[in-house]
This record gives sequence, C-alpha cells and structure tokens, in this order.
Amino acid sequence: MTGSRNIVDEITGHRRMRRNRKADWTRRLVQENRLTVDDLIWPAFVVPGTDVVDPVAAMPGVNRMSIDKLVEAAKEAADLGIPAIATFPNIDMALRDETGSHCLAANNLINEATRAIKQAVPNIGVITDVALDPFTSHGHDGVLRGDVIVNDETVELVARAAVIQADAGSDIIAPSEMMDGRIGVIRRALDEAGHQNVGIMAYATKFASAFYGPYRDAIGTGGLLKGDKKTYYIDPANGTEAIRDAALDVEEGADTLMVKPGLPYLDICWRMKEAFGLPVFAYQVSGEYSQIKAAALNGWIDGDRVMLETLLAFKRAGCDGILSYFAMDVARHLAKRG
Ligand code: PBG
Repeated sequence: MTGSRNIVDEITGHRRMRRNRKADWTRRLVQENRLTVDDLIWPAFVVPGTDVVDPVAAMPGVNRMSIDKLVEAAKEAADLGIPAIATFPNIDMALRDETGSHCLAANNLINEATRAIKQAVPNIGVITDVALDPFTSHGHDGVLRGDVIVNDETVELVARAAVIQADAGSDIIAPSEMMDGRIGVIRRALDEAGHQNVGIMAYATKFASAFYGPYRDAIGTGGLLKGDKKTYYIDPANGTEAIRDAALDVEEGADTLMVKPGLPYLDICWRMKEAFGLPVFAYQVSGEYSQIKAAALNGWIDGDRVMLETLLAFKRAGCDGILSYFAMDVARHLAKRG
C-alpha cells in the first residue's frame, strides 16, 4: 500500500475530501455557513406587574418578565447586538374571553411592552404576534363559534389588533393564527392606517405540532385549550401544502416568511427559500428548547454545543435568521468568542 500504487488513490482517483479538513485553519477557510448575532431574534414572555422574573418550569433558563424587567433584558439584548425581540404576553385570566376582545385594547400587556421597549431601547426591533390565543378563554387562536374557529371574523379582529400594535410602535407584525387571507387583510389595514413601514413576518407554515407544549404553559393557555388546532395549522405530514400556503402569503404581501417549528422542518425552510427568495426565518420553538435543556441538565449531551449546532443547521438549510429562546445565551457565547 505504500509507494506509487496506493489502492485508495486508485479508487478515489487521487481525490481526498479529508485534505480540506486536516487542520483548524483549513476548516475555517472552507466553512460554508456561520452563525452570527445578526441571525438571532429573541422570543420573550411578558407578565403583568413589576419586578417579576418568574421561571418557566419546563424551560430552564427562560423567565416570564414584567415590563420593567423585560426592558432591562431588551437593553442587554441590544448591547449584545441582537437585532430584534419577539414578545408573547401572559394575559390576566380575568381579561380573557370567548372572542379574545382584549387584543383590541390599546394599553394591553403586549402593547404596553412594545411602548416601553421602543422608548427605552429604540435600536432593537420589536416583533409582535397577533394571534388571539393569549386573549381567548379557550386557548384557540381565533374566534370559536360552537366547535368552529371562524376564519373571516378572526381575520377582521386580527387586522384591527395589528393596527393597534403598530400604533404602539411594533416594527413587524407576525400573524401566527394561520387563517386564510390574513396577510392581505392585515397589509391593507396597516397601509390604510399609514403604517406603510411596518413589516409583516408571516408564520407562513405553522404546523399542528406537539412541540408547543412548554410555550402554552408559559402563557397559560395549555390548561384552557379545548381540542386541538388541526383545522387551522398544517398537518406535519404535508410539505407541498405548506409551500402552497406560503405562496399565498407571498402574493398577499408578506415581507418575510417563517417556518415553525424549526429543526424537524428544515426541508420546508430549504424549499421555501428556493421557491420564493424572500428572507426565511425558523422558529426553534419551546419544545425544541426544552429537549436540549433537559438532556443537557441530565449530563446526557453537551448543551452549548448542541445549541450552536442546531442554530448552524438552520443557516445551512437556507434560513436568514432564527427565533430562539437560546438567543441571549448564544449572543453572550459569540461575544466571548469575539
Ligand atoms: C400561538 C403561538 C404558539 C407559539 C407561538 N405563537 C403556540 C401555539 O400555537 O399553540 C409557539 C411558540 C413555542 O412553542 O415556542 N399563536
């Protein structure tokens, strides 16, 4: 096997993939994708009150914060270079009703959070979800009549809520309820109200997933939810339907597209980026976070390395950015690495 007649060279025709992997410097030279702080959107939970930092049991390291604490955290996020924060409110149970009407209150928790963040930390982007689930007494994303989530009435409410969120200073509206026609209706409503510069990040493909469990506990909808969300979220079995659904959002005026959950749906991220060329974001959801944290806390995996590897996988799959509960940890880690 030595000398000129080397069996491996005969087989490979003198091609050897390992040459580019032989040292740290070659690996750095040929690295195709990189994760930077610019890729991160930090989802954060807001609760009423002041001076509240309340851990989410199923998401070790994640807290629900009152607005004052959230503003402090948003400052830290901005200082670390995180471009945007996505807020999710845990609304007082007494304010939840059948139609989620409190979503229209100009001073509700999500809008007050937006105002406070924009005032104190003007250089961080604020992305707000406009689904009704934090506001409904049944935990569904829309208006429930009998056992039907009614589409058009929900869209009308969501569009009004979107304008109120934009009035409060939200930079990007992110509709997550998967009603038909919502992107177009919201775009028109925003434009009529003079919010031409407020963007829409479509939860373009949101799947009826079991990975949202810890989030539902964090905003107090888990115990309320009657039935499931299969009549409006996409079946995890369907990729082509997901792309068709995203195509409608693109036609209706979405500025950016999101895939949710993230890691189990990398094929969708890739197909979506290829199909539309619009910026694509993945939402690494609560259950994905909890899986990694739980295994890491048990000493079964190296949590930091798995965190970074999953986020890099999103980049490789064509994502322009990731909503991740790890955002602050990752940003601190990247800052240390320099
Ligand atoms: C609701 C909404 C959900 C998430 C974001 N917005 C959950 C759901 O649909 O039940 C999930 C986020 C996560 O799991 O991290 N419109």
